[in-house]
Amino acid sequence: MVASIAPPPLPGLPGLPPRTKSAHLSLPPNSSIRASDLTAAHVTVYDPGFAHTQACRSAITYLNGAAGILRYRGYDIASLASSATFPETTFLLLYGDLPSPAQLAAFDATLVTHLTPPASVFAVINAFPPSSHPMSILSAALSALSAALPALNPSLTHGSLYASPQAREAAIFTACGAFPAIAAAIYRHTNNLPPLPHTPPHTLAHLSYTARFMHLLTGAPPPHPSSAATIARALDALLVLHADHELNCSTAALRQLSSSGVDIFTCLGGAVGALYGPLHGGATEGVLKMLRRIGTAANIPSFLARVKAREEKLLGFGHRVYKSYDPRARIVRSLAYDVFDAVGRVEPLIAVATALEAAALEDDYFVSRKLYPNVDFYTGLIYQAVGFRPEFFPVLFALGRSSGWVSHWAEFLDDDDRRISRPQQMYVGKERREFVPIDERKSADKAPSDDAAAPRRTISRL
Ligand code: CMC
Repeated sequence: MVASIAPPPLPGLPGLPPRTKSAHLSLPPNSSIRASDLTAAHVTVYDPGFAHTQACRSAITYLNGAAGILRYRGYDIASLASSATFPETTFLLLYGDLPSPAQLAAFDATLVTHLTPPASVFAVINAFPPSSHPMSILSAALSALSAALPALNPSLTHGSLYASPQAREAAIFTACGAFPAIAAAIYRHTNNLPPLPHTPPHTLAHLSYTARFMHLLTGAPPPHPSSAATIARALDALLVLHADHELNCSTAALRQLSSSGVDIFTCLGGAVGALYGPLHGGATEGVLKMLRRIGTAANIPSFLARVKAREEKLLGFGHRVYKSYDPRARIVRSLAYDVFDAVGRVEPLIAVATALEAAALEDDYFVSRKLYPNVDFYTGLIYQAVGFRPEFFPVLFALGRSSGWVSHWAEFLDDDDRRISRPQQMYVGKERREFVPIDERKSADKAPSDDAAAPRRTISRL
């Protein structure tokens, strides 16, 4: 339990939009209205991808996509990436303020005590074929964690379990503490390395979070001892950069799952599922594979021609919110050179990446659509230089994002306005029809999609 180190709970979330009393809405720019007022006026909002809908209030991360600003709890991402450690950032995201030295020490010590998940989690990880994708294993491992900890599961105890601050803190620290050990066990299994013999967590307590993680990966000092500190610092900065990004797809998925009251580990597993997708965290892996396919700068024009012909996407480019340079991408790009110095080898694909960025930023297709490099564009080059396989990159993303996920989980539970997530649909199917018994039905002489009345969007297009 961490009641002694946790600051007092954050005050309730401010700023509920005012209730609108009339069907005639007169709204100043940048204002919000309650969608329920539109329903009262028999107006609904059709918003695929929720690109124009605020689904919650949050005080965690501020993002201004037009100006390229990202702040956690008011602090600029650049200052956090250069000066704060990942546990410090996690504390900030969770509790709203940077920790004092004593608070940070207690917080980190609590993470260490939760470093070892139950043995059944390792059994599930090791039951997968080593060729399995690490993100599939991660999501199963989180399910295994859920199954192993019934006392932290509202479905198996009582629905209001997480109203208890002790249960909530135990859930958060169990998840955050075990995450690096789970990620490392997946790394070892999918690299055909034997499981590490059990290390009592307290023997690793003197190491930084990232050094602990690297120890769990390799069971030994990092491969470049003289540069270990630079590598550990770069990995730490990448975890900070990935820690939160307000209502991205996986965090939105996590909040959606949380709204049903399901346990935190199942919520995290669902978020991992969303992150795995190639348009989200899977893009870290996709970018590296794309750069390998392009191979040399000479192949960039033909690659971009295929992108513009919509035969493929330029992964690591574009963002739902940023319509300017993603501030994280700029930081990652400069970190990459620190890591190349540290490992004593410039990753050759950096030349392809920088030439690709330059070519895209001069091309009207990308300029007119405001498509810039995002955080995933250069990240994989660092991970590759350190020795990770591309398939493991999204797990590293998940490790960083886990701190944002648990912070949103906690904030959601404190939100008096929370409700089960249940969006509406616009029904475009058939009108009411009379049921026809099977022996009275004519045999189909045409495919359902040939039916003029069938919705134009077929399942294969979705
Ligand atoms: N390559 C080529 N065209 C693109 C790209 C891209 N990477 N991204 C957007 N576009 C085009 C898109 O085709 C559309 O063109 P048009 O208006 O002519 O139809 C226009 O730009 C607007 O894009 P959109 O698809 O409406 O944008 P969105 O907000 O729905 O999607 C995105 C955002 C991130 C999914 C998309 O930009 C993308 O697929 N990028 C590549 C995948 C990627 O790098 N994902 C990582 C995102 S950042 C880290 C994270 O959160 O995981």
